[in-house]
Amino acid sequence: MYQTLLVTTEEQICTITINRPDKLNAINKTVMEELGRAVDEVYSNPDIKAAIITGSGIKAFVAGADISEFQGLTKEQGQALSKKGHDVFFKIERSPKPIVAAVNGFALGGGCELALACHFMIAADNAKFGQPEVNLGLIPGYGGTQRLVQVAGKGRAMELLMSGRMIDAQEAKSIGMINAIVPPRELLTTVKELLQTIISKAPIAVASIIACVNNFDHTQQGYDYEVQKFGECFATEDMVEGASAFLEKRKPVFKGK
Ligand code: COA
Repeated sequence: MYQTLLVTTEEQICTITINRPDKLNAINKTVMEELGRAVDEVYSNPDIKAAIITGSGIKAFVAGADISEFQGLTKEQGQALSKKGHDVFFKIERSPKPIVAAVNGFALGGGCELALACHFMIAADNAKFGQPEVNLGLIPGYGGTQRLVQVAGKGRAMELLMSGRMIDAQEAKSIGMINAIVPPRELLTTVKELLQTIISKAPIAVASIIACVNNFDHTQQGYDYEVQKFGECFATEDMVEGASAFLEKRKPVFKGK
């Protein structure tokens, strides 16, 4: 049913595992499409009361959007890529059933944005977070410019987005990105226990809490602007250079063009 995800449901909790460990679970087109379908199943299946999103293996939650799919994209194609990501990530964020990110390693770029779109995050002590798109001559395109500000505040979001600096789980907790840090082997059990508590509550009340919290100072305009600017990056020479340099395993040389 899925090529890039493992999806299992136990005790009313659906665990969606992104399963491309050899590419550090990078989100390619198939992952994005399948993630959308898996979340549709969370919405529609009455036997599922909550979901967990995590990554396969011990190294990565998700190390970003798949950079190999960036090469040769036009501005319009970049905007379409961003918009598709927004649609899927909004579906996660607006799910009436709780969806929690269990962050088990690198959560970079689109991976950090995926975790930010979940209702909250619990991380293993080896988790690392960051928005390194700027190293590629790009910006986050899956909601990162909007959601990071909401959890970390303007100054921290600005610094992390502009520097591309990676932070560890302790720092992520100190700036409010994650709720708890646990040893890797306890990650899924901890999240499942928390979710069992939540799904024992009134489902309509839980759904209403999600809707109300999401409604706090939440405007579409910022996301639309991000789609536009993300796409514009694809029309720059620096973006071509940044993605090529990553794939060729060398340092990029940016020219401001
Ligand atoms: N897109 C495509 N492929 C990716 C990827 C991504 N975002 N992140 C990792 N990979 C691939 C690597 O190309 C490599 O593939 P290969 O074995 O075929 O060469 C494989 O995953 C393992 O990654 P590698 O870089 O060898 O692991 P590492 O431990 O040396 O470094 C990271 C780990 C996360 C620091 C590094 O992979 C990285 O910087 N990834 C990109 C992060 C990023 O910029 N994300 C935002 C994208 S918009």
